[in-house]
Amino acid sequence: MEVKYHEERIPFVVIDDLYDDKEQSEIMVELDYLCTERRLIPPFKDKNGASDDYRNIKNVGCLYLDTFYRKRRHSSILQITEKLFRDDASLISNHPHWYFDISSINTHSTHILYYEDSNEYPAHRDECRFTAVTYFYRQPKKFEGGDLQFPDHQIEVECVNNRIIVFPSMLFHRSTPVRMLENDTHTKNGKFCITQFLDHK
Ligand SMILES: [Fe+2]
Repeated sequence: MEVKYHEERIPFVVIDDLYDDKEQSEIMVELDYLCTERRLIPPFKDKNGASDDYRNIKNVGCLYLDTFYRKRRHSSILQITEKLFRDDASLISNHPHWYFDISSINTHSTHILYYEDSNEYPAHRDECRFTAVTYFYRQPKKFEGGDLQFPDHQIEVECVNNRIIVFPSMLFHRSTPVRMLENDTHTKNGKFCITQFLDHK
């Protein structure tokens, strides 16, 4: 595992390889099951999509796991991704910036997205304190793009498998468009994203 605390211009954390091989394969099995047209909420029908005027702006399917499952123990994803909060969430709170005092954070929710060719998430803010996005994809990588961009600050973080990026939700952020060869579409070779929204209730 590797953790980098970025402080220039805006504060954010990049955590690589938090999840081991077994955890990753368990997560991928569940993402495969969930990320089909039968289960994902189609683009533009998600009333909870965050944007300036609360209108959904993304063109990618998603699913809210906290309401999809009756109990957290029914989901490997919901259990395994709790690892981000181990040791009083020190992976996050060790960031030296004052914003990263997470002592008041006492709730989080999880949602998943699946991006294929041309899918993107235009610039928006999230309605919470911290957003943690985690990327997964099949190796070798069959797409380009899908990177996290903070357009107001000219910062881009590459979409890398098993990478978590934690940042203040108030920052405008976007997912750049995914580009795939036609032969690779509809083969689950796109970008899977697990998003955890951390907040105080
Ligand atoms: Fe977001």
